[in-house]
Amino acid sequence: MQARPHTDASTRSDAPRSAPLLEVHDLQVELITGRGVVRAVDGVSFTVDRGETVTLIGESGSGKSTTAMAVLRLLPDDLAVVSGSVVLDGVDVLTDDRALRAVRGRTVALVPQDPMTALSPVHSIGSQLREAVRQAGAASGRAAVQARAVRLLEQVHIPDAPAQLRKFPHQLSGGMLQRVLIAMALASEPQLIVADEPTSALDVTVQAGVLDLLMELQEQRGVALLMITHDLGVARLISDRIHVMRAGVFVESGEAEAVVHDPREEYTRALLAAVPTLGDWDETEAEKSGGQEVGGRG
Ligand SMILES: Nc1ncnc2c1ncn2[C@@H]1O[C@H](COP(=O)(O)OP(=O)(O)OP(=O)(O)O)[C@@H](O)[C@H]1O
Ligand SMILES: [Mg+2]
Repeated sequence: MQARPHTDASTRSDAPRSAPLLEVHDLQVELITGRGVVRAVDGVSFTVDRGETVTLIGESGSGKSTTAMAVLRLLPDDLAVVSGSVVLDGVDVLTDDRALRAVRGRTVALVPQDPMTALSPVHSIGSQLREAVRQAGAASGRAAVQARAVRLLEQVHIPDAPAQLRKFPHQLSGGMLQRVLIAMALASEPQLIVADEPTSALDVTVQAGVLDLLMELQEQRGVALLMITHDLGVARLISDRIHVMRAGVFVESGEAEAVVHDPREEYTRALLAAVPTLGDWDETEAEKSGGQEVGGRG
């Protein structure tokens, strides 16, 4: 995936086109918990260029979600102390409250981890998507809002969109719901999508479809992605660059290929070892295991 120039919706700020879309510098987050203060993020710096996919990967508790939530400024002020700088499309979201409201839901949108709980169970898909369209200011008037909602579902390859809009969340599969959430994120034509484990609640085959969709959106619309995963297989598939996170810091950063094929850190190698790969067929091993086909590949 190569960074592509952004073609539409690129006139919203005065930030120079050459500057990174997202520039995070020395981000630190302290969470105030019942058991004391936890330094969840301890000085991370990274950038995301327009049209690029940057992935944060690391074990559970390493601080990936906290980093993403701090970037979106979704951490509650009374429970999190955030320092450093987060500049999104030329706007410092940590210090400038008014500017933050302008970029959130416009420049940047979030795709949450668990599609089953992210939507309201008592409202139809249509009413929730139409609300997202209205909030984004992407259309006004009943017919235009409905047309835009249909178009958004078509963009995420949900067949028979008008009928699906009448359904309620429990009537759709997890993969379809995640597509709906991606459609909601797209309502505002964001330049950056932050996706926190967008496929981890889904079956493997459904995961692949959702990842394909994210990659397609990126290729066709030039959307940048800040992706969070604990799965290096996913990271390898979709990223331009990877940051490997552990205990609140980046332990290794680089081009996706370099990190995957030539990891410098033992921790990264351990993450890699957790990814199943197809090895070469080994005759002797196959014989030893009684010639069973399942033993030969792994
Ligand atoms: N609500 C909370 N209360 C207390 N501690 C928290 C809370 N949320 C996160 N933490 C702590 O902050 C640190 C980072 O957590 P974070 O959720 O960012 O990790 P993560 O990398 O996203 O993990 P996962 O892969 O499990 O989602 C951990 O030490 C965690 O225990
Ligand atoms: Mg997380």
